[in-house]
Parts: sequence; structure tokens; C-alpha cells
Amino acid sequence: MASEFELRNRRIVLGLSGGIACYKSAELVRELVRAGARVQVVMTEAAMQFITPVTMQALSGQPVVTSQWDAREPNNMAHINLSREADAILVAPASADFIAQLALGRADELLALLCLARPIERCPLLLAPAMNREMWAHPATQRNVAQVKADGATVLGPAAGDQACGEIGDGRMLEPLELCDELVAFFQPKRLAGRRVLITAGPTFEAIDPVRGITNHSSGKMGFALARAAAEAGAQVTLVAGPVHLPTPRQVRRIDVGSAREMLDAVLPRAPQHDIFVATAAVADWRPASAGEQKLKKDGSGRVPNLELVENPDILATVARLPAGDRPWCVGFAAESHDLVRHAREKLQRKGVPLIVGNIGPATFGRDENQLVLVDAAGEVELAPASKITLARELVRVIAERFEPRGA
Ligand code: C5P
Repeated sequence: MASEFELRNRRIVLGLSGGIACYKSAELVRELVRAGARVQVVMTEAAMQFITPVTMQALSGQPVVTSQWDAREPNNMAHINLSREADAILVAPASADFIAQLALGRADELLALLCLARPIERCPLLLAPAMNREMWAHPATQRNVAQVKADGATVLGPAAGDQACGEIGDGRMLEPLELCDELVAFFQPKRLAGRRVLITAGPTFEAIDPVRGITNHSSGKMGFALARAAAEAGAQVTLVAGPVHLPTPRQVRRIDVGSAREMLDAVLPRAPQHDIFVATAAVADWRPASAGEQKLKKDGSGRVPNLELVENPDILATVARLPAGDRPWCVGFAAESHDLVRHAREKLQRKGVPLIVGNIGPATFGRDENQLVLVDAAGEVELAPASKITLARELVRVIAERFEPRGA
């Protein structure tokens, strides 16, 4: 979910064209305002059949503009004023008819007019299509969508699923929270454009028997935040996740694993196809030498099972030792309870990686905030305490600056 400040002071024109998904736009305007945006709603005649300007005015805190003949504008040029003042125009829902108007460069109503009148380089246009699946799949719509993309619009979604008409398929508008995340991502600098990033996250689970195992308190939040930040920065992201209860960040490919060995099996063959590897997972150091096939039973004698442990493979060190042509640029994490910098520096040496990110494990496990210290050959840099997503974006900036491509 977008936090309170992720769209702080962004001026967004939120356009609604006609479609049943207009009911979701009420929630969307709330999310945008909550994220700090200043939202000016513009509605077409058709949109007003589905939801009233009264609702949208109350939620945005601004009178809604519905006509190019709106006499409240002193110069009577709503299309110019609105498109010059906006940081972005988001049309949600964008109906098939509205997209067709854009593709033709028509200006029948204020919303299409202001999209046409916007300075293309300065004022991006984002469209969230919403329509019946047959309308979406129709060659005319697909042709129009291709045309508006070629003309510079960004198309968000649509998603597949249940439709208001009772059919199932492509054409659902993205959910308000997803649209808000897309907008936040849109404004992030594309520092990792074209890069492929592989990330491990969460704990591992080492089975003792079919019902018990060894694991730890890692929630995976830092690794998931990093996956989101890397995707926002334009990277293609693969996230190998231990057992966690977190939604997959948008545009991220996720592979779920259980044990350290499964994590290694997921990471190792993929590492050579990635430019950057970030190991945030709290991998269990040891696993039971053999997992019981059946549940170990208490026999009432007071005797306890003798659990023999063996060491798990070190995923980060294994990737960092790949031959230069196969080795991504590696970043490790150190979750410590004390002497953070000393331990992080030891890890830098032991794992043979260019950057270790230290955090105090017990202080951050499960929380949305963290405090990081970056340790490399040159020294240490502390990042001020902040939310994990803020720190993840900062870390992406550092990684993008220091990253050295293979063979460089
Ligand atoms: O000291 P430790 O070996 O736990 O170092 C932590 C760093 O190494 C983290 O980046 C962690 O993801 C990674 N690691 C790993 N495989 C292990 C243990 C740690 O990738 N078996």
C-alpha cells in the first residue's frame, strides 16, 4: 500500500470516463489523497451516469470539472489550465470509447480535449482500461490501445477476472491500491532500467519431521521492499521467497521455496542470467541431518530425540564464487544482535562480496521500519531510520551507482 507521503504534492488530474468501474474510482481518489497527492477530478457525461460529482468532490476536496464550457475558469480554458498544472493525468476507468477518441485525437469532451492539449513531454498520460472482455479483445480496441501507446500513453492493466457483466476474462480495471502503487512506481527514477535483479527474502524452513521444523523470525519485508523498489526502478526482478505471508510486489516474478537447499536450487541456475544478486534472506545456518518421514512421537519416558544438525549451503558465498562470466554483482545482508559493523565487515571478507548491508535483526524483524549501515571496502555509511520501502529505494540508488557489469 502506498504510504502517507509517496505522492506528496504530486498534482494529479484523475479522469473518469463511463464504466461500472467508476465505483472503484471513489476509493482510488481516497488512496491518492492519502498518499499526499492533490487530485483534480474530471468526469465525462458518461461517467456521471455511474457516479456523481458530489461523491468525487467530497473525496478529492476539489470541485469536479465536467465541461469545457465551465465558466468558473477565469480564462474559460479549463483544458489548458488543467493540463499545464498537472504532474500526470490518470484516466481510470478508461472506456473503450474513450481510448478510441484518444487514438483519433478527438476532443469531443473536456477529458479527451485536455489529454490532447497536454504538453506530451511534461505531462504523462496513464490509462487504466476497464471494459467487457470482448470489447477489450476486439481488434478495434487493440488497434486503438497500440496507437495510444505509440502516442506516448502508459497503459496500466487491465487485469483478468470476474466482470460486472457476469463474464470472466481480461478487462477488469486494476484495483485502487494497485493503481496507486503503479503511479508511485511511475514517478521513481528508472535507475535500473534494463537490469535483471535476483533477490532472496524471508526465512527458510528446515524440516525436522512432517509437522515441525527450524526457522526464524524474518518476515521477508525488507527483501520484498527491495524487490518492489528494484521493479519501480525499471529492473526485471526475480524474487526467491522463503515461507512468508506477503503479497508479491507488482511486476515481480516470485518463486516460493521452503528450505535453504531449495533456495539454493532456485538461485544457482538463475544467477548467471541476472546482473545483480541481493541476498536478504535469513537462511537457517543448520538443518536436521535427516528429516523424519513420520512425526516424532513423545513416548512418555522423558527421553528427547537426538537432533543431529548439519550445515546448510551458503547461497550468497556460492553465487559470489561463480566464475566471473556467470557471477552477478552481489550484495549481502547482515542481521546481527550486536557489534553490527564488525560483523558486517567480517562478512564482506568471508563472502567475498563488494557490499554488505547491516541491520539489527531483533530490532527490525516483522516491522515496517529499519535502520541500515552500508559496509564496503571504503568504509561505512549509515542510512537514517526510515520505512523499509524508503530504505529500499535508497539502497537501489546506491546499488545502481556502484554496480559494475560483468567483465567491467
Ligand atoms: O553470516 P551469514 O552467513 O548469516 O550472512 C548473511 C548473508 O549471507 C545474508 O546476505 C544471507 O542472505 C546470506 N546467506 C546465504 N546463505 C546462507 C547463509 C546466509 O545466502 N546459508
